[in-house]
Amino acid sequence: MSILKELNNDINTIINKAGYEAENIVLLPSNRKDLGAYQLNCAMSLAKTYHKSPMLIAQDIKEELEKSSCFVNVNVASPGFINLSLSKEYLVSVLNEINSSIYNNIDKEEKKKIIIDYGGANVSKALHVGHLRSANIGEALKRLAKLVGYEVLGDAHLGDYGRPLGLVILEIKKRYPYLAYFNTDYKGNYEEVTLPITNKDLEEIYPYASTKSKEDEEYLEEAREITFKIQNHERGYYDLWKKIVSISKEDIKSVYDELNVSFDLWLGESDAMEYFEELKDIFTKKNLLKDSDGAQIVEVANENDKSPMPPLLFIKSNKAISYATTDLATILQREKNYHPDEIWYCVDSRQNLHFEQVFRAARLANLVREDVKLSFIGFGTMNGKDGKPFKTRDGGIMTLKNLIKIINAETMKRLNTNIEDEKERESISKTVAIAALKCADFLPFRTTDYIFEEEKFSDLEGKTGPYLLYSTIRMKSLLDKASSISYQKISLLETPEEEELALNILNLPTVISKSLEAKSLNEICEYLYNITSLYNKFYSENRILTEKNNELKESRLVLTKIIYELNILLLDVLGIKVPKKM
Ligand code: ARG
Repeated sequence: MSILKELNNDINTIINKAGYEAENIVLLPSNRKDLGAYQLNCAMSLAKTYHKSPMLIAQDIKEELEKSSCFVNVNVASPGFINLSLSKEYLVSVLNEINSSIYNNIDKEEKKKIIIDYGGANVSKALHVGHLRSANIGEALKRLAKLVGYEVLGDAHLGDYGRPLGLVILEIKKRYPYLAYFNTDYKGNYEEVTLPITNKDLEEIYPYASTKSKEDEEYLEEAREITFKIQNHERGYYDLWKKIVSISKEDIKSVYDELNVSFDLWLGESDAMEYFEELKDIFTKKNLLKDSDGAQIVEVANENDKSPMPPLLFIKSNKAISYATTDLATILQREKNYHPDEIWYCVDSRQNLHFEQVFRAARLANLVREDVKLSFIGFGTMNGKDGKPFKTRDGGIMTLKNLIKIINAETMKRLNTNIEDEKERESISKTVAIAALKCADFLPFRTTDYIFEEEKFSDLEGKTGPYLLYSTIRMKSLLDKASSISYQKISLLETPEEEELALNILNLPTVISKSLEAKSLNEICEYLYNITSLYNKFYSENRILTEKNNELKESRLVLTKIIYELNILLLDVLGIKVPKKM
């Protein structure tokens, strides 16, 4: 249990001792710091239960609080607020406990298994800006959930099914009709056939085929037929499809690697299709499928709906399986293979309706146990300076590779010129660029849109990734310089900044639980920024290594170490790597 939780438990015991039944009362950071660091406002609600004036109740509690050596400066303010601060003696002991392990101040939650669906990359299409937030936020939520002890599986949920693949394969057939894949007489092993196509080609082929299909009805029809062949595992087409998936997957993986994003499961929509027949059976037996102009739909609206809730399209009129159905089949697959307690979908907010329909249909068909939580974790868009989704200069789709290049050019400019080795400079700049991107992505609340501003994001000053990295590296270098000194424990907290740093450190569990509750990383980012700038202020105004009083010097080094470790821990949660220098 975290120190903060223990402290709150103690508070509840004290209130009981004062003669009042209470539970789940927590210390709140005060908004009147002149009166105390914390506030308790339980006297007002207790007054109703005990038919007694809140001032008198507050007075009783105050007397009991004063008996504890943890609290100082306990005072009561009308109409019954209790203000209080933590004693230095207590803060020192708390910091020493955290120094022995930072995990002493992290709460472990009850066991739970969560699947997070946060990739959504589409095979044969380049990862683009729309995939950035899913990757960043999903990865960080996965790490955060692991930190509190949940069992978490991240699933890439590749878009490897449906018409785009049919289009790509059709276009390959047009360009390379002689390939063995299209020769029905070919009896050899397709795995041995070399394909004259790289991922770079795919990045050109898909947009080309997609545009063509919009202008050429016959071409579109051919693509549909091919999609159908793939879905029916027709020899040749199916083998080519598998090859394309593997080429594309490799490239997708390399971009995710750059972003420091990884998955436990690399399943795709096509893997869920093994469950399609069973899914259809369940829906049919429960009488949930209705015919509608040749298509099959599931009614998901209910009388409480305030806005229109269109039916879920189960099978399209051309017999193709819809996007919604791939998600339903995936739910069935996840329930059967992994028995999760929760499934989180970290997907663009614009897919909100899609997921509402899918979740409702899944409930109607009891695809998951009743207590399984399905959560849509929508996020806002990253826009260009024109306020519209970020595009290339000529209005094209901005790929993630290009986006990383743009920010990397900025971080490169700001890198310390003393790093001479070219390779090293490049690798450090990349790491800083990813930190810049991620911090900018996390700072606004998850559902808020934001504007891509490469200069601002890569600035060494301000609320940026580079600022956090630079400061963290400086803490480390200070600790390295002190490596010959033994620093074991804190005994003094001299300045108000040191005390405030201690309070901030103590508050970590609140930041973690709020972030998990909101499934947003903004609080963690703000917290990191606040604690880092507070430390930097302390660092510039006080002596650490050159401090003459040895006890104070030791205390300050330990404080630096705790803050350094905290930064490393939280940057890691955010999926941000820290270079050795920059
Ligand atoms: N591949 C989809 C897209 O690019 C996103 C998939 C999101 N996850 C899901 N389970 N539907 O729009």
